Amino acid sequence: MKLQEKLKNMEKIALAEIMEAVSMDDLEKAKVKYLGRKGEITSAIKGIKSVAKKDKPKVGSLINELKQKITVLVDEKEQAFRNKEQALFENNDITLPGINDEIGHKHPLIKTMEDIVEIFVNMGFKSVDAPEIETEFYNFEALNIPKNHPSRETFHTFYVENGMLLRSQTSTAQIRVMEKEKPPIQIVHAGKVYRPDAVDASHSFMFYQLEGFMVAEGIVFSDLKGTLERFAKAYFGEDVKMRLRPHYFPFTEPSAEVDISCFICGGKGCRVCSYKGWLEVLGAGMINPKVLEFVKIDPAKYTGFAFGMGIDRICMLKHGIDDIRLFYENDVRFLKQF
Ligand code: DAH
Repeated sequence: MKLQEKLKNMEKIALAEIMEAVSMDDLEKAKVKYLGRKGEITSAIKGIKSVAKKDKPKVGSLINELKQKITVLVDEKEQAFRNKEQALFENNDITLPGINDEIGHKHPLIKTMEDIVEIFVNMGFKSVDAPEIETEFYNFEALNIPKNHPSRETFHTFYVENGMLLRSQTSTAQIRVMEKEKPPIQIVHAGKVYRPDAVDASHSFMFYQLEGFMVAEGIVFSDLKGTLERFAKAYFGEDVKMRLRPHYFPFTEPSAEVDISCFICGGKGCRVCSYKGWLEVLGAGMINPKVLEFVKIDPAKYTGFAFGMGIDRICMLKHGIDDIRLFYENDVRFLKQF
């Protein structure tokens, strides 16, 4: 091909390539390719040698024109890129602080729940799940709370459709597990419960409970006491003392309410323990033989203990929180403190 024709082709391709460059990098590559020391214009100039003498001036000026065109276009395009960069820079205040990706953390109640479950798991309990929507059988009857029994009052309940209800206690897990598993059994279950109580600083229509129980041959009251004492010391501190007061629960016999010595004042009396020196933390007892009969476990052969605690209350005691509503308002200024 003659040099004149080559120059024409080069012109088309070079100008198109420069026009289509989408970045400073693209443009730089095109610039080197055509205008560089070893570029195509340079090699065209070298090619003049082989052009007929009479055509040399014409070809020479063609090359110059082309070089000129390419240079002008590259300059224009470079300027356009620079303008764009400048505009971006001016519209963005680079002195503004950056946006931090904030990583959230667990809710204080979930943390409390996990900490308590872990203590029992370390003592050999297995942590299981259980449903929140239940029947009267699991929430009441099988736990020895028959219809019209006065203690149903304590467990005000939300009823939903088809005779189902939102469980008002996690003791339902006892029945759910014992229906399927046979002794020896050693279980904890933690989760939400619901009661249509008027909401105030110490009541919420939804809160968290943890239920634990153990059934085997030869389980006695001191097993319960030892287990709870280990928990109390592990969670509240080794100096904590525990006491049991007789109480009534339909599903345990005998039953007790369990207090720990106030871990804030050491039992001397302070605001947290209402100057009593003791804090009520849970309910417990030996599983009522009637409950074992409901799940077809022979009460003549097996005995067991059970206990239940309010996780919200324990979390409030531990962290000196005086209003349960704070847990459910989702105010990050509160939640961030844990
Ligand atoms: N379910 C009881 C409640 O919600 C707590 C409880 C008391 C559970 C005594 C137990 C127990 O397992 O033995 O108030």
